Amino acid sequence: MKTESTQPSDWALYRRLLGYVAAHSGAFLLSIVGFLVYSVANVLLADLTQFLLDSLGEAPPMGMGFVSQAAHWFWPPGDKDPLDYARIAVPVAAIVLAVMRASGYFLGNYFMNIVARGVVHRLRTQVFDVLIRVPKQFIDSHTHGELVSKLTFNVEQVSGASSEALKTILRDGLTILALISYMLYLNWKLTLVFFAITPAMAAVVLAVGRHFRRYSRRIQDSMGEVTQLSNESMHAFDELRMFAATAQQSARFRAASEFNRVQSLKLAFVQAVSTPIAQVLLALALAALFWFALDPAILAGFSAGSLVAFIAAATQLGKPIRTLTNVQSIIQRGLAAAEDLFAQIDTPPEVDNGRLTLERARGEIVLDHVDFAYPGTDQLVLQDLSLRIPAGKMVAFVGRSGAGKSSLINLLCRFYDPTSGQIRLDEQPVEGYRLADYRRQFGLVSQRVVLFSDTVRANVAFGEADHADDVALRQALETAQAWSFVEALPNGLDATLGDGGSGLSGGQKQRLAIARAVLKDAPILVLDEATSALDNESEAAIQASLESISTGRTTLVIAHRLSTVEHADMIVVMDEGRIVATGSHTELVAEGGLYASLYQQGFTNP
Ligand SMILES: Nc1ncnc2c1ncn2[C@@H]1O[C@H](COP(=O)(O)OP(=O)(O)O)[C@@H](O)[C@H]1O
Ligand SMILES: [Mg+2]
Repeated sequence: MKTESTQPSDWALYRRLLGYVAAHSGAFLLSIVGFLVYSVANVLLADLTQFLLDSLGEAPPMGMGFVSQAAHWFWPPGDKDPLDYARIAVPVAAIVLAVMRASGYFLGNYFMNIVARGVVHRLRTQVFDVLIRVPKQFIDSHTHGELVSKLTFNVEQVSGASSEALKTILRDGLTILALISYMLYLNWKLTLVFFAITPAMAAVVLAVGRHFRRYSRRIQDSMGEVTQLSNESMHAFDELRMFAATAQQSARFRAASEFNRVQSLKLAFVQAVSTPIAQVLLALALAALFWFALDPAILAGFSAGSLVAFIAAATQLGKPIRTLTNVQSIIQRGLAAAEDLFAQIDTPPEVDNGRLTLERARGEIVLDHVDFAYPGTDQLVLQDLSLRIPAGKMVAFVGRSGAGKSSLINLLCRFYDPTSGQIRLDEQPVEGYRLADYRRQFGLVSQRVVLFSDTVRANVAFGEADHADDVALRQALETAQAWSFVEALPNGLDATLGDGGSGLSGGQKQRLAIARAVLKDAPILVLDEATSALDNESEAAIQASLESISTGRTTLVIAHRLSTVEHADMIVVMDEGRIVATGSHTELVAEGGLYASLYQQGFTNP
């Protein structure tokens, strides 16, 4: 989580956001043109009052009004009565101006949405692409809810800022500019009276903005927590009920939502209080304006129509100023979110400096004095591991839970780098290979089975194997002892699995995961407690097929059943992050160490 003192400057943020807008500069320009037309039409509609009012007087109603001048230029009145002339010209002008304003409004809004939607799409895909490539450490140290909320909530906040806010700034900013220019044109002295309130107005706007950002950031963080708690609770349905934890979970959720409510209310308070303040300031300015305007000296240079048009323009300033103060909340929310998203986008991907390409490894793995502590901790979970795993052999790792077996697999998969020491594959340091090439050498069944809410086919023929034909698929499923139950599913291979494979037993999920690894046909097969959820019978069956698929492959199995371990070419016994013994089953039993005691305990617990 970031602290509020280390924020990049607003300008840096704006510039970076504008970079996203630049990709749609055509639409952006059209939108600006649209809003320009819109604001000029607005001013001319105020100006129309001059034409109307001065047509009632005796003098020819040319005055200082733009519309009346334009009308006289386009359509000279000749000797028409001013009233008759105005009866035609004023309604026509009103229609023309309304159409102008409507088209400007449409152009401005629609094309700004093209820009905004484009920005959102690009940001969202960028953040997703970054999230899918960050180092495992990043994922391990953030909650999923937090990350998901970035993709959904934060991105929408930026979209609000880039569409609503930009639209308002352009539309109302240009309207204010046009109105003020018009007022200056009519009577600059009177206009200056108006400017007297500018500092007070600016102070309100700035103060409001600061608060908006602070509350927005908190709202955003709490949305992450709300998302996380919701996700977690849906996954933990069984546990919540059976451990009577629903009340506790409700309380946690309520607390997160409550924090969100309070912060949102604070934001709403600032928002609600800022508008009346701006309105009062504006009313003060108008009051001063009336006082000065009715001064005979000032009145002298003014037709009645022009005076009313001036006041109409001044009154019209109220609405755009109000919206501009209000839009700050959207901008600040967007900026707070953009900041967070940019930090996300700047997260470096996994380090991949390897140059060596690798088609198919032989599969010899060497650990050379490997030490490892998870980043951010100083506890060595692996200490001084040295081991040579010959190509094509099956090696079993045994040890109590927490011994560091899965951590070793993490290093082998290059999810983390060793703190010191070296791992070599086919005599080359693993960092030397291109990451994608390196990982292609491994068929991994991890301790935590992950299935996607997709068909059985898509789950097994996954990634680079997605073109596998039915014959290959069936073979892989048979090897994993999964074919019989897949065949029995309503749609067989095309049966759709629920979220995370719900609807399947733990053992069935594991068998699908094994089939996926088998289908990949990689030279190194890694099974991390891949059969833990299987009954003895299926385990024995998989054991038999494992014999056949492990030939010609280096196979690393973390297992807690004697049957698996017995057949290994080598058994590595780990304890508290160290290798305490290596050898064959008989050798290790004879040695009488940790292995012998695990064996005596029946080998049932990992
Ligand atoms: N992501 C992580 N961050 C910090 N420590 C971890 C992480 N994963 C595992 N550990 C620690 O590493 C040690 C070894 O765990 P692990 O390799 O999972 O053991 P095993 O697979 O042998 O049961 C444990 O003490 C565990 O707490
Ligand atoms: Mg483990």
